[in-house]
Amino acid sequence: MMTEPNHKRGLWKTRMGFILAASGSAVGLGNVWKFPYITGQNGGGAFVLVYLICIAVVGLPIMLAEFTVGRKTNLNPVGAFQQLKPGTLWVGIGFMGVLAGFLILSFYGVVGGWTLAYVVKSLTLSMEQFTSPTAAGALFDSFIANTGQVILYHALFMGLTMAIVIKGVHGGIEKACDILMPTLVVMLVILMIRALTLDGAMEGVKFYLYPDFSKLNGQVVLLAMGQAFFSLSLGMGAMITYGSYLPGKENLTSATLYVVLFDTLIALLMGMVIFPAVFAMGLEPTGGPGLVFSVLPAVFSGMPFGWIVSIIFFGLLAIAALTSAISLLEVVVAYFIDQKKWGRKKAVLVMGGVIFALGIPSGLSEGLLKDFKLFGMTFFENIDNIASNYLLPIGGMLTAVFVGWVWGTKPAHQEIERHETPFHWAAYWEFVIRYVAPVAVAMVFLTQFFATG
Ligand code: TRP
Repeated sequence: MMTEPNHKRGLWKTRMGFILAASGSAVGLGNVWKFPYITGQNGGGAFVLVYLICIAVVGLPIMLAEFTVGRKTNLNPVGAFQQLKPGTLWVGIGFMGVLAGFLILSFYGVVGGWTLAYVVKSLTLSMEQFTSPTAAGALFDSFIANTGQVILYHALFMGLTMAIVIKGVHGGIEKACDILMPTLVVMLVILMIRALTLDGAMEGVKFYLYPDFSKLNGQVVLLAMGQAFFSLSLGMGAMITYGSYLPGKENLTSATLYVVLFDTLIALLMGMVIFPAVFAMGLEPTGGPGLVFSVLPAVFSGMPFGWIVSIIFFGLLAIAALTSAISLLEVVVAYFIDQKKWGRKKAVLVMGGVIFALGIPSGLSEGLLKDFKLFGMTFFENIDNIASNYLLPIGGMLTAVFVGWVWGTKPAHQEIERHETPFHWAAYWEFVIRYVAPVAVAMVFLTQFFATG
């Protein structure tokens, strides 16, 4: 049994470094781009309330479970399950996780590329092209149909991700997040102040914070739970992998609380940027996935210093996407380093290259390959659907069952309290990880299964 971490594998240098890196994984396009548009489409305040409940009863326990499995084994998800229950099928959770990381990053890199493109567009285009939601929408549509540009920015985004991951745990990932995450918070607060001081902003605040319970139904609850899952980077072993680089003395329970609070804070702040701005501009909150890329530029154009706001905003979105993409690539890379004994550089270059190639058809899904559909969905939508709607929920549920029932809460508890770190909410955790989380996530999965199948 491995009690002390393998130092050759790399370790987080500081406690804050680990928390920032894990927060960097959690905070991404999910919070900054997806959370506001799903909230906008699902009635505002009531959705937010359900989302917060899901964070507490599903997200929190599963995150602690993933950190614990990671630190106990100091391995990637495949090696981790293998070590805890050798020779059983539970290792399948690990393989599913590596596969999910592979698939998610392939399209995540594409959207990451869009954010980089919008940083450049904010810097170089005149704001006239952003003056109305229709003009901004048309600009977005013509951009995502431009094969050369989409692939160029996609390559740039993947190149940045790979460059950081090559540098390893504390050389690359930790250092990048040390700087990036605090910058993100500062940028968001500036944008929030800007948005809140616009005329008519209060209507947006009301939409966002005042729960209208008539908007709630089963589908909204399930969407909120799925969002909690994706936003916290759970269900595919990303947090197992980050936990595996922890020295034993780290207090896992407080780290979990920090990461969950931080991720939730960023999502909530983002809502406080978007909804006041959207309402102040007299726009609709139900704009869907295009909200950020087609509506916000129009919002910025109506503001003094709009182009600066635009640069800041898309810069922030690119940063958030990058720190998440790093964690997705790290899961795949850690598997090839630990299990296949590859060097880090080779693992990053080969797997990063393959993931980039797989992402190309996703990048072309709004352009050249628009009419290439399978099951009524584009390539992009199919990959997203398989990974996000199937692999993640099954992975999360199985991780909860594994830790709650198979490996057992007792050894998990011992690992959490290694080096006498106190675990104040142990009774709560044991209850939710065994009963509430598996059942809740099973419900998400089954609904998606019946809705699409
Ligand atoms: N949580 C990130 C976001 O909100 C995306 C992400 C990164 C992710 N790593 C993950 C999602 C692992 C699921 C699993 O954008």
